[in-house]
Amino acid sequence: MSPGGRSATAQSQRGSLFVEEAVVTDTRQYDGNQFVLRLYSPKCAAAATAGTFIHLRCDESIPMRRPLSIMRANAEEGSIEVLFKIVGDGLKALAKRQPGDRLSSIGPIGRGFAVRNARPRAVLIGGGVGIPPMIFLAEQMHRQGWRPLPLVLMGSELPYPFACRRSNLAAGWADGGTFQTIASLEDLGVCARLASQAGFAGAYRGYVSDLASRYLGSLSAGELAETELFACGPAPMLRAVAKLAGDFGLPCQIALEEYMACAVGGCAGCAVRITTGDGPAMKRVCVDGPVFEASQVFPAG
Ligand SMILES: Cc1cc2nc3c(=O)[nH]c(=O)nc-3n(C[C@H](O)[C@H](O)[C@H](O)COP(=O)(O)OP(=O)(O)OC[C@H]3O[C@@H](n4cnc5c(N)ncnc54)[C@H](O)[C@@H]3O)c2cc1C
Ligand code: FES
Repeated sequence: MSPGGRSATAQSQRGSLFVEEAVVTDTRQYDGNQFVLRLYSPKCAAAATAGTFIHLRCDESIPMRRPLSIMRANAEEGSIEVLFKIVGDGLKALAKRQPGDRLSSIGPIGRGFAVRNARPRAVLIGGGVGIPPMIFLAEQMHRQGWRPLPLVLMGSELPYPFACRRSNLAAGWADGGTFQTIASLEDLGVCARLASQAGFAGAYRGYVSDLASRYLGSLSAGELAETELFACGPAPMLRAVAKLAGDFGLPCQIALEEYMACAVGGCAGCAVRITTGDGPAMKRVCVDGPVFEASQVFPAG
C-alpha cells in the first residue's frame, strides 16, 4: 500500500531552507577520489527530502559554495550525509575536512521528487554523482512503507562508493552475470542492480539506461501502467532515460545538476529551458528544480 499521494514526499520550498553551521562528524574515503561526509546539521536534516541539496562553503578561502545532493537525512540524530567526487578546488578542500570542523551551509534547497499513488512501481536510476538522491529516495520509500519497494539501478565507471554483495533478491529480467547489489539496500529488501562499462564483477556491462530498458521490457502492460521512472546523473544518461520513458510511455522525474552561483533563486545563473504547456520557459534549477519532468527538459523529437 502506498502512503498518501504526491504529498507523501514533502517538497522543500524556498521558505524552508536554513543557514546553519554544519559540524563534520564523520568522513569516509572511497576509491576514485570519492568521499562520504556526515554532517550534524539538524534543521537541514529535519526538512530534507529526496532530491533536495545543500550548499556548502568548503573552505574559508573559497567564497563560492558548492551544491551537493543530500544522500541521507536522519532527523532524530540531526545528521545528513553527502557523497562527492573531487572535481576541482572546492571539493578538494571539502575532502580535507575532519570531524569537528564547521562549515557554513544553506539547505535543504530545491523541490525534491514527488511520489504518486497512481504509479507505485518506482524505478530509480542513478549514474555517477547522481547516485546520492536515488539512495535517499529508496530509503525514504522503504521508511514510508511504499509497496512494491522500488527497483534501484546504479551506473558508475568508478568503483562503487558503498559496500556491494551478491543479491538474494530475484531479478529474472537481468542476465545471470548481473548479480551484484548495494548491501545497505538489500538489507532493507530493496532490489538493486549495478551497471558499468568498466567490467566490474557482477555488474551489467553497459549503460544503466540499457539495464533499465531490459527491466521495462519484461513488464506487462498493466505493470507499465503503474510504473514511474526517477533519475539523476550526467546529462547523456538523463537524455537516454527520458527517451526510454517516452518509448515506454512512462512519466519520469529527473534531478538536474547544473552550475550554480547563489542557489537561492537570486541570480538566474542556473536557468534551463523547459517546455511547458504554454511554450518554452526558463526555470531556475536551484529553486524551481532540481527535479523536473523529463519530458519538459528533453521533449520528444
Ligand atoms: C543540485 C546539485 C547537486 C549536486 N550533487 C552532487 C553530489 O551529490 N555529488 C557530487 O560529487 N557532485 C554534485 N554536484 C556537482 C558539484 O556541485 C560540482 O561538480 C562542483 O562544482 C564541483 O566542485 P569542485 O570545487 O570540485 O570543482 P569546480 O572547481 O567547481 O569545477 C571544476 C570544473 O568542473 C566542471 N563542473 C563544475 N560543476 C559542474 C556541473 N555542475 N556540471 C558540469 N560540470 C561542472 C567545470 O568544467 C569546472 O571548471 C551537484 C551539483 C548540483 C547543481
Ligand atoms: S544559482 Fe542563482 S538562481 Fe539558481
